[in-house]
Amino acid sequence: MIINVDDAGDAPATDVNLREPVFRARGLTKIYHVGEVDVCALRGIDLELYAGEFVVLLGASGSGKSTLLNILGGLDCPTAGDVWFRDHDLVHATDADLTRYRRDHVGFVFQFYNLIPSLTARENVALITDIAEESMTPEAALGLVGLTARLDHFPAQLSGGEQQRVAIARAIAKQPDVLLCDEPTGALDVQTGITVLESLERVNEELGTTTAIITHNAVIARMANRIITLSDGRIVGEETNAVRSRASELVW
Ligand SMILES: Nc1ncnc2c1ncn2[C@@H]1O[C@H](COP(=O)(O)OP(=O)(O)OP(=O)(O)O)[C@@H](O)[C@H]1O
Ligand SMILES: [Mg+2]
Repeated sequence: MIINVDDAGDAPATDVNLREPVFRARGLTKIYHVGEVDVCALRGIDLELYAGEFVVLLGASGSGKSTLLNILGGLDCPTAGDVWFRDHDLVHATDADLTRYRRDHVGFVFQFYNLIPSLTARENVALITDIAEESMTPEAALGLVGLTARLDHFPAQLSGGEQQRVAIARAIAKQPDVLLCDEPTGALDVQTGITVLESLERVNEELGTTTAIITHNAVIARMANRIITLSDGRIVGEETNAVRSRASELVW
């Protein structure tokens, strides 16, 4: 059941610490200049994401979801407005600051897995664990996403869902504070998508990683603590799930 945040009363059915914002955005605006044309992708976004929460971002194509996620992840800068990750000011950060921020705090998962074809699952994850400071072992990260039996397989020897789970293992192996996922199940069939969502659910629960997922699939919103809906560069809806579904219960 989805209920409005305002109706949630004093006892939200979530163990997320809503007093500890990880991200805080105020008046985020993004204008892309393409030739003579200005495209306004974000039109004043105010947003908080809290420690440990699982947030789903919904919205039509072109509504600004990826733009917002890329700014939170330090891949892009807003045209106006402010955004902080804890006490890091991401708007006034230098490129070197943003590179360090991404390296130390953010894991990304995209629709396409971007694995290196000539490296095994274990080696793809080790690329990250070798350079990160407090990382888990590639074996532990791949175990968390259920791929212990696939450590020495190359991407071409893995299904799409398994490749996406390697990508998740790679993203979480350095134990990031936040995991930002842009349509992680967009290329997958239902059953495979669910195994990928189960992995994201497990990472969120076992590591406490604050997780934001962009999807076109409103069914996935049932897993979330909170659902944020964008339309034409604005937040037009925010709901909280009184009861969350397990990934394994989703049907679409
Ligand atoms: N690099 C860019 N240059 C110019 N315009 C862009 C750029 N990236 C996005 N836009 C425009 O900004 C708007 C928001 O794009 P964005 O990619 O954030 O949407 P989205 O909600 O992620 O859409 P989708 O669901 O199709 O991925 C769109 O109108 C898009 O055309
Ligand atoms: Mg997008």
